[in-house]
Amino acid sequence: MNWLLRGSAVPVVGALLFASLPSAALATDTPEQVTLMASSCANCHGTDGRLAGSIPALAGKPASELETKLLAFKHDEEVAATIMDRIAKGFSDAELAALASHFAAIDPAGEAALATTPGQQE
Ligand code: HEC
Repeated sequence: MNWLLRGSAVPVVGALLFASLPSAALATDTPEQVTLMASSCANCHGTDGRLAGSIPALAGKPASELETKLLAFKHDEEVAATIMDRIAKGFSDAELAALASHFAAIDPAGEAALATTPGQQE
């Protein structure tokens, strides 16, 4: 019952908690971190933001346009939002700017787009 309170377990648990704390690094520090952050958008916007369907593609759109939209979603200024208003609130303004630059820099007709040309679909 009181094994947790015995002296030896406390420093171990404390060390584990400390080790699992997020580091001070920002999600926008390196391109790799931004790519990781952007991978959560692929569920809906397709690999590298190249999906062209009812959900708008992101790849290759001007960064300023994407950033303006993301900020409008975040601050409830975009009335047509169904889900992006909630998603955008999970990111800082700097992270949204980094995501906008990330997707703007992707060629919309790159390799991933070739893999989904109409002839190769069912
Ligand atoms: C759950 C599905 C989903 C996820 C995940 C998602 N989006 Fe969206 N996104 C949408 C939908 C749906 C719209 C259309 C607006 C709406 O209905 O909210 C949209 C619209 C947008 C737009 C506006 C594009 C335009 O041209 O109008 C941007 C920019 C955007 N999303 C960026 C992102 C980014 C960046 C992420 C990752 C952080 C992300 N989205 C994750 C579903 C999603």
